[in-house]
Formats: sequence, C-alpha cells, structure tokens
Amino acid sequence: MKIVIAADHGGYDIKQAIIKALTDDGHEVCDLGTDSADVSVDYPAYAKALCKKIQSGDANLGILCCGTGIGMSMAANKQRGIRAAALSDEFSAEMTRRHNNANVLCLGGRVIDAEKAVKLSRIFVGTDFEGGRHQRRVDMLEDL
Ligand code: RB5
Repeated sequence: MKIVIAADHGGYDIKQAIIKALTDDGHEVCDLGTDSADVSVDYPAYAKALCKKIQSGDANLGILCCGTGIGMSMAANKQRGIRAAALSDEFSAEMTRRHNNANVLCLGGRVIDAEKAVKLSRIFVGTDFEGGRHQRRVDMLEDL
C-alpha cells in the first residue's frame, strides 16, 4: 500500500518509528518531513502537503503526527475528501477504517509512545472499510 506520512517537531520521533515498521511490513512510505524534533515547525503546512498526496491519488492512506494529533486532524479535516481521525487506542484505529473510511490517521507524540504509534498505524493500514450503510454516512459527510 502507498502511505504518506508527515510530522511536526512534536511528532517527529513516532514518525520515524512508524516509517521503519511500515517499510519493514512491505509498504511504500513517502516521508514529507519534518526532519528533526529540535526545530519548531508549523503543523498546518505539513497537513496540507500530506492531504494533497491523498487527493491526487499518489497515496492511499496518510499518517500525520504532532504533539497531540489534534492540530493535525483539525488542519486535515478542512481539506476536501479528507477524513482524518485523531486517536490513541486500538479499537478506534480499527473502527475509523471500518465505519468512517478514514483516510488519514493522526497521532500524538506527546500522548503515546513509539510502540503504541506503530501498533495503531498497523491496525489502521491493515483494516478495510466495510461499506454498506457506512458508505451512505460517509457520503453525507462529504456533503456537509
Ligand atoms: C507544537 O508545540 C504542538 O502545538 C503541536 O505539535 C500539536 O500538538 C498541535 O496540535
């Protein structure tokens, strides 16, 4: 699967762990930066760049990492066709794919550790949308 990933300084460390794990799993991972935890950068710019890759079809799914995951999700959900979910538990990671057809996962490097971030990313990437009645609701989301 083609995955695009980006982070600000608050999410840099978990981004690196996720890239390694998903690459080891055989996925194609495109890293849009940032390249350091030591230089403060603005998360909306990274969210916008990542969402463009999803909108253009260059990537199937995206993962955005910041301090909490919240700022990234706010920025991503302003982009057309993007359904971004900020979460920190396994059940939500699975259900947001199955029911919401989320195409962007948002994680917080100051909320969860790298091991949890990898686990949640693997669940997100490995779970399919169920369709059916959920498709109608996703269509309604797009109409909002
Ligand atoms: C950066 O300090 C921090 O505000 C950012 O990473 C994120 O948590 C915003 O939601």
